[in-house]
Amino acid sequence: MKSHKKLTTASGRPYLEDENSQSVGSRGPLLLQDYILHEKMAHFNRERIPERVVHAKGSGAFGTFTVTHDITKYTKAKIFSKIGKETKVLMRFSTVGGEKGSADTERDPRGFAMKFYTEDGNWDLVGNNTPVFFIKDPKKFGDFIHTQKRDPHTNLKSPTMMWDYWSLNPESLHQVLILMSDRGTPYGYRHMHGFGSHTFSMINQANERFYVKFHFKTAQGIKNFTNDQAAHMKSHDMDFSQRDLFDNIDGGNFPKWDLKIQVMTEEEATNGDYYFNPFDLTKVWPHADFPLIDVGVLELNQNPQNYFQDIEQVAFAPAHIVDGIGYSPDKMLQGRLLSYPDAQRYRLGTNYEQIPVNRCPFATNNYQRDGQMRVDGNGGQNPNYFPNSFDDMEVDQSYKEPPLPINSHFADWYDRNCEGENDHYSQPGKLFQIMTPEEQSNTIHNIVDAMSGIHGPKKEEITRRQLFLWYRVDPRLGTEIAKGLRFELEALPI
Ligand code: HEM
Repeated sequence: MKSHKKLTTASGRPYLEDENSQSVGSRGPLLLQDYILHEKMAHFNRERIPERVVHAKGSGAFGTFTVTHDITKYTKAKIFSKIGKETKVLMRFSTVGGEKGSADTERDPRGFAMKFYTEDGNWDLVGNNTPVFFIKDPKKFGDFIHTQKRDPHTNLKSPTMMWDYWSLNPESLHQVLILMSDRGTPYGYRHMHGFGSHTFSMINQANERFYVKFHFKTAQGIKNFTNDQAAHMKSHDMDFSQRDLFDNIDGGNFPKWDLKIQVMTEEEATNGDYYFNPFDLTKVWPHADFPLIDVGVLELNQNPQNYFQDIEQVAFAPAHIVDGIGYSPDKMLQGRLLSYPDAQRYRLGTNYEQIPVNRCPFATNNYQRDGQMRVDGNGGQNPNYFPNSFDDMEVDQSYKEPPLPINSHFADWYDRNCEGENDHYSQPGKLFQIMTPEEQSNTIHNIVDAMSGIHGPKKEEITRRQLFLWYRVDPRLGTEIAKGLRFELEALPI
């Protein structure tokens, strides 16, 4: 039998009706005492929280990670402890530059963020669908993102700002080439790979450190929109990726990704012998040197019951690692360790880790107290300082990582693109060369289309600077783009 619940105020007072405000006579003014009206209006006015400063538009689901291969020689992380072990996961996919209501098929990298609920705490891997990034120093992130958002004067997206920035930062070339290929407009979220992108570390039982890259290979196969299809989809269904993910999970067609890692020994990564910096986020580790090693399968199999509760309020942070998994000296990663929890304290509030989707389901014990919206008992009568003579909480030295060898005694502002760190061209060049003729031609078409949007007094200067960079990546690429833009090749400084 259907159970009938009484409609109540937020404080639990049942009330008689919910559609007519209290008034003096049927046509007279309203009474200030109609508290139910106030409460409804006041709560509604506070429904929006700040959207994420980047990656505002997204979709998410719960799932399971299952270990299929033994990697315990690299890590003691409990999530990888034995074949067959299952761990609950929450994932959120996103676009980067658009607002919360923007179209899902915009040309943009896609966020690929995962929260693994492990016994040793929540492990967050906050990656993208690309193995590299546009910049290599976190100081540059805010400036870069400004160019991807709206122009402060016109309030419009500005290809001029974007190409101005990219052309002044050749380190962006690798990521921009991927973005301009059809991988920049994936067919929803199920048909793309995911990457941890940074170099992370793993630590095994013997306390040995390895450096690793995480790869998630889509079991659905890569599928992309062309430029025109993506543009058409914007007007047909702004929420294509949300619908595609939700409907497939709802219909029992659970998307899967195979997790693989690349591994470098600590010695290889730090002795300086490798021909580029293994902690440079604008570079991939060639598979021929560091082959992919199978680890497990990630499956998404449960839509959230409530989007706002579980997806809008989820907080992923690269700082959230667990025993057996560590950071690396990648400068971008180092910057991100600080940025995310800081953003989330602002976006969700001081005690955001208590929101059920963010809370570690196993154990959280500490001396943090009070703050807005503290709802977990606040430590009750227990001591609120450490050390103390009353409780039995202790630190555990077995979680200590091996010391990190550093190759310098000098603090300075080192040029991120110093000699030996300034080859921005070889890897994108190889990427272009291994594309099929169709992929190459679509990429060229997409770049010409995007660069055609550069306008204003600096149009020629910006176009020339970027063409010069494309030419250095691959002369045919540069030449074809110049032709497409009807730009005289002689005008190039080459
Ligand atoms: C220094 C560089 C970076 C900074 C400072 C930065 C900062 C941020 C901030 C503040 C947010 C919003 C967090 C929130 O409100 O919950 C965010 C979201 C995100 N970032 Fe970054 N980011 C950087 C680079 C990257 C890189 C390299 C990747 C991928 C490899 C990445 C992937 C993501 C993803 C996937 C999200 C959305 C997470 C979600 O779904 O909630 N970011 N970033």
